[in-house]
Parts: sequence; structure tokens; C-alpha cells
Amino acid sequence: MKLILENNIYANVHADFGIKFLTKERLEEDSNKELLHSTGFKATQDETCLLLESKTLVCGVEELEADALRAATATAIRVLMKHTHKRIKISACGINNIKAITEGLILGSYTFERYKSEAKECEIAEIMIASETKTGELADYEAMKNFFEAAKIIATATNFTRDLVNTTPEDIYPEAMATIARDLAERNELTCKVLDEETLLKENMNAMLAVGRASIHKPRLIHLSYKPENPLHVVSLVGKGLTYDSGGLSLKGATSMVTMKMDKAGACAVLGMMKAVSELGLPIEVHGFLGAAENMVDANSYKPDDVLKSKNGKTIEVRNTDAEGRLVLADVLAYAQQEVKADYLFDYATLTGACMVALGPYTTGVMGHSHKLKHDFSRAASKSGELIGTLPFNNHLKKLIKSELADVCNISSKPYGGAITAGLFLDNFIDEDMKDKWLHFDIAGPAYTENAWDCNGYGGTGAGVRMSVKFLQNISKEKEGK
Ligand code: BES
Ligand code: ZN
Ligand code: ZN
Repeated sequence: MKLILENNIYANVHADFGIKFLTKERLEEDSNKELLHSTGFKATQDETCLLLESKTLVCGVEELEADALRAATATAIRVLMKHTHKRIKISACGINNIKAITEGLILGSYTFERYKSEAKECEIAEIMIASETKTGELADYEAMKNFFEAAKIIATATNFTRDLVNTTPEDIYPEAMATIARDLAERNELTCKVLDEETLLKENMNAMLAVGRASIHKPRLIHLSYKPENPLHVVSLVGKGLTYDSGGLSLKGATSMVTMKMDKAGACAVLGMMKAVSELGLPIEVHGFLGAAENMVDANSYKPDDVLKSKNGKTIEVRNTDAEGRLVLADVLAYAQQEVKADYLFDYATLTGACMVALGPYTTGVMGHSHKLKHDFSRAASKSGELIGTLPFNNHLKKLIKSELADVCNISSKPYGGAITAGLFLDNFIDEDMKDKWLHFDIAGPAYTENAWDCNGYGGTGAGVRMSVKFLQNISKEKEGK
């Protein structure tokens, strides 16, 4: 399905079928008002009504603003994908909404068919977006085109992340993730370095090695870099890449193990960000560090009671092998700081079920020491269509991960505040001079869904990509050079 931005108003674009948004107020002024009323259509958010005679799918929106339009566009395109119309038209609804409409189309029409023996047919060949304002006048085409092209890159990168998250552990294991990273590097002119077991041992990455030890697929640390000339900033992005999380000897229950192919979503999000940033050509140097491992059960599994010496020298008492993500991140964060002096250090991880308890399943939890950085990032996120909520660190919670035996324990002694104690565990592996540059994102809730919501269908959502690219776009506009 091809997306075309037409330098034309909606009324003048030729198509087989159109998508039209109506707020409650606009419904009252609409030429089809009586007909729509007679069907019971009330223009509530995401409510749709097919008007066959006027070849229009009407879709309700709370307001003609980005978040409502993105969700409604996704709903509308999903409805029309079940029909046989080939050319669809839609309005851009103004310069401020072209990004949301484009994302709604690309993210809403996403399907994952790799494991179906017969792919579902979708007959839509072209979608024409009319470059008009909310009130139907012709908009500034060139300005709109820039937002359109950027939105296509970001939404396509989000779908790339979704594909990876949805792929099974039979097909994506640590070395396979390294191959995917190498392919991306080749296509997008990035550099890619992969550390195998032997090198991980030389780098003292014993925590990560312990987590991956029981798998036939050994761990890999993958380092991708995008280095434009004269960058304004240097950014390191770290991703948890558990290609499967069985829980290890602290084995998960049968129902909670299902979906744990998604435990690589942090690493997959970082891959999506690297793709988007390089295609947008942002003037910032970006490094992606992926910690890829598989948490399995075997005679040589790491155990509750083990003490692991991590890369930065700190010792960790293992009391639960299912709290493995923080062990991998401990070493990868230490490695990232050793390799790159960054202005920003962000990590992304499906780290805790507790984060979902705290914030619900749709919201990413952000933690860190710098209030300004959390604030700046949250502002970017709110413009991106992703949801984010701050979980505050406090010194009292630090007691809960104290160990009698080692420097720190990998689980909390109390069953409360689990997302924050996991964040505080990671804090042990952040160098003093990086404390205010670091943010930790727990994407356990929004990274994967079994029920469609907003512009997400079943499976991986690509959580983290849009909000982070928005933040990186924002810092690309900052004047001060380095
Ligand atoms: N990968 C899980 C966290 C998770 C749970 C992500 C559900 C997505 C959905 C993580 O490795 C884990 O198992 N965490 C444990 C930590 C506990 C043992 C302290 C958890 O959240 O139960
Ligand atoms: Zn786990
Ligand atoms: Zn995990």
C-alpha cells in the first residue's frame, strides 16, 4: 500500500473511497447528518459508519487533534482493509496533524503474517492524503511534505521493531539478532561490532554470561553506531534483548511464560531507533548497545544463591533467576559507558511486571535522577503518541535491594515498588558522572499487546521508538554545538 501526499484539497482528490472525520459538533453540520443520526452514529471516538452511496467511511473523533486523529485513522484503515477499494483518500487535517494521520495509516495497517501459510489479501493499493487544513483550504505543501516524509520513516521503523518483537525465539536468538543488526548496519551505513562469549568473558561481563549460560544460543553484545559529521550530541541507547525469558530455574508459571518472546522488545526498539535516526539523518551521534541472551533451564543454569561479579566490579547476589534483565543491563550499561562518553544514556527494557501494576499496561515507566531530563523527555513523549509516567526514586527503597552477602541483591525484599527497585538496582551500574544523563525506561506494559488499542494491533507495538525519536529530533534542533 502506497502513501501519496497530494497537493490538493480532499474534495478534488480522485479515489474509490474516502475517510472522513467527524467530531460531535461537525456531525451536526454534516450534509449526511440525518442519515448518520438514523444509523445511531454519535461521532464518539473511533466509532465508524460506512456510507456506501457517498463512498465514505465516517469516523468519529473527540477532537481534530493529533492523538484522536492517529487512533481514528488506524481504526478507519483497519475497517477499509477488509473491503475491496483500491484507492482511498483522506484529509491531512492541517500541518499539525499530517504526522498523526500518516502514523495512523502505517501503524494501523500493520499486519504480521510470517507464520501464516496463506497471507491475508489487502486490496488497497494507494492512499492519497489531501494536503489541506482542518477547514479544507490548501495547506503549505512543501512544509507538509517534510513532516510526511519524516513520519513515514518513524512509523516504518516502528513496524520494523514490531516485526522483530513478533518473531519467535526459534527465529530470533542472540546470534540471529546480531545478523539482523549487521544487515541494518549494511543498509543504513552504520558500523556494527558483535561481542561473542569469548570477548564477553574478556570484558568481565559475568552477569550477562550467567543469564545466557543455560541456552544452546550463547549471548551476544551488539554495538551499532551512527556517526554523522560534527554531531551536536552523543547519545547511547541500551536495550534488553532477552530473546526468550523462561525465568530460568526460578521458572515462570505456564501462563506467564507465554508471550516472553517479547522480552527482547527493548533491544528491538533500539534497532528501530537506529534505523529511524539514520534515515532521518539527524545531526547527533547515536550508539545502540543490545544485550542479547536467552534465559533457559539446563544442568549448568545459573542459580538462586549464586554471587556474580559484574563488569564494573560490583558483586550481585542472585535470589531469583527470573530477575535476569537487570543482570544483563548491569553489564551492558557498564560496557556502554566504557566505550562511549555520551551526553545522554537511555536504557529500554521489558523489566518488571510491577511497572504494569504501577502504571497500567499502556504506559512506559521512566526513572532517573535528573528532573529536567525526565521532564524534557516526557514533553517529547507527549507529542509522539506514546504514554509515559515517572516513577520516583527514593533512598528508602534502596534498603530493599541490600544484600548481606554481596554488594547488591537482584530482587527486592518486599513485594512493593518493584519497578523502582529494579531501576535502583541499575543505578548501581551508572558511573557518577553519568547519573544526570541517564534515564531508564520500563516498557514491560506497552511493548506487547493481545488486544488492539490506539494504533496498535495484536503483538509487538514498537514502544519506545516514536517517543525517543521525537526526543532526538528535539535535541537536533538545539543551537549549541560541541
Ligand atoms: N521479563 C520479565 C518482566 C515482564 C513481565 C515483562 C511481564 C513483560 C511482561 C522480567 O524478566 C521478570 O521476570 N521480572 C520479574 C521480576 C521479579 C522476579 C522480581 C517480574 O516482574 O515478575
Ligand atoms: Zn525474567
Ligand atoms: Zn525478562
